[in-house]
Amino acid sequence: MHAEDVPLATIAEEAGTPVYVYSTATIERHARVFSEAVAPLGDVLVAFAVKANPNAAVLATLARMGLGADVVSGGELARALAAGVPARHIVFSGVGKTAQEMIQALDAGIGQFNVESEPEARLLSDVARQRGRTAQIAFRINPDVDAGTHAKISTGKSENKFGIAYDRAAAAYAMARELPGLQASGVAVHIGSQLTDLKPLEAAFERIGALIGDLRAQGHDIKVADLGGGLGIPYDRTLPDPPTPAAYGEMAARVTKHWGTRFIFEPGRLIVGNAGVLLSRVIRVKQGVHQPFVIVDAAMNDLMRPSLYDAWHDIRAVAPDGKRMIANVVGPVCESGDTFATGRDMDKVEEGELVAFMTAGAYGATMASTYNSRPLTAEVLVSGSRWSIVRERTPIEALVAADKLPDWL
Ligand code: LLP
Repeated sequence: MHAEDVPLATIAEEAGTPVYVYSTATIERHARVFSEAVAPLGDVLVAFAVKANPNAAVLATLARMGLGADVVSGGELARALAAGVPARHIVFSGVGKTAQEMIQALDAGIGQFNVESEPEARLLSDVARQRGRTAQIAFRINPDVDAGTHAKISTGKSENKFGIAYDRAAAAYAMARELPGLQASGVAVHIGSQLTDLKPLEAAFERIGALIGDLRAQGHDIKVADLGGGLGIPYDRTLPDPPTPAAYGEMAARVTKHWGTRFIFEPGRLIVGNAGVLLSRVIRVKQGVHQPFVIVDAAMNDLMRPSLYDAWHDIRAVAPDGKRMIANVVGPVCESGDTFATGRDMDKVEEGELVAFMTAGAYGATMASTYNSRPLTAEVLVSGSRWSIVRERTPIEALVAADKLPDWL
């Protein structure tokens, strides 16, 4: 198995395992496919959701292609700027922006704040006024539609913490109009992630279209519609494929035809998910009562998705010999939840061999932790026959050195 022209075995040998490996060509292809799919909407900014993969090399690859960034923290903002994303192409989302983060974003001159509550709007107004700036804002509207995805990544139901209730939207815009330092020129929506059906998205967009009409009737000059991210990708090839970016773009173009706004999209997973694998070595194979346990050197701290969302990642041998096995694939962490697959029909692997967790480029390394005092995984970017370590594995010494003893010990 290769990443572009580079054998994964070479990377494992030289960079060690576990290691995330990303393909430049695939990242670029996905960015292009998505951008082309939404191009018919006219004036569109594709703002990559940095949370999906904040590695500087990944962000710089996308920045060079002209993508913007959707950020949700001061840290992501700093990373996007450092990677060369122009500030005006940055959108700041999230329910808990602090005054400090607002100052950081205003001073950088970001393009838009997606504001998720009335108190947030009031704080942003205060901060903007103090800094002598005007914040362009969109209220994120909670359209109360069920995205039909995993509950932990569903955001568009009224009981979720995200956005302002649809029925309160008019009042929020009326309030913002009276607040200095704010220009409420946008409407934003994002109903969840890994969506495999366009219908909830279409329902959400339709509600936003109706709201834009109402707001304009009330005298608000709505210029921007931010339609969020969320389009799913194939993980389990035995399931039907999610809708294509083209089908998504056609739907969005149809629903938004008469809006007369600029558009922002915030795809994350779609751009990077299938552009990465987590490469891991089999430590040993242990006999189980029912099936063998394949114990690999990656664990739940490196790739949390299976333990957190019961997510499926294909697991393949890097050098398959054609034989198959039914096995449980687990990591070394001391929790039964540290399980990547149960009763999986997979390539037969033995101690010392390499496996690749597929479709791990999104929400992989970015969600890693040092649980069990395991160092943060290294990351590699490949481009053709070139490859480079774009994040060093955290040295154990750094973990140890980060803790400080109090003076009484
Ligand atoms: N915009 C906003 C406001 C978001 O909250 C998100 C994702 C996105 C855009 C990007 O969504 P995407 O296109 O990647 O679906 N850790 C979970 C996914 C969490 C998604 C959070 N928000 C997972 O591993 O499945």
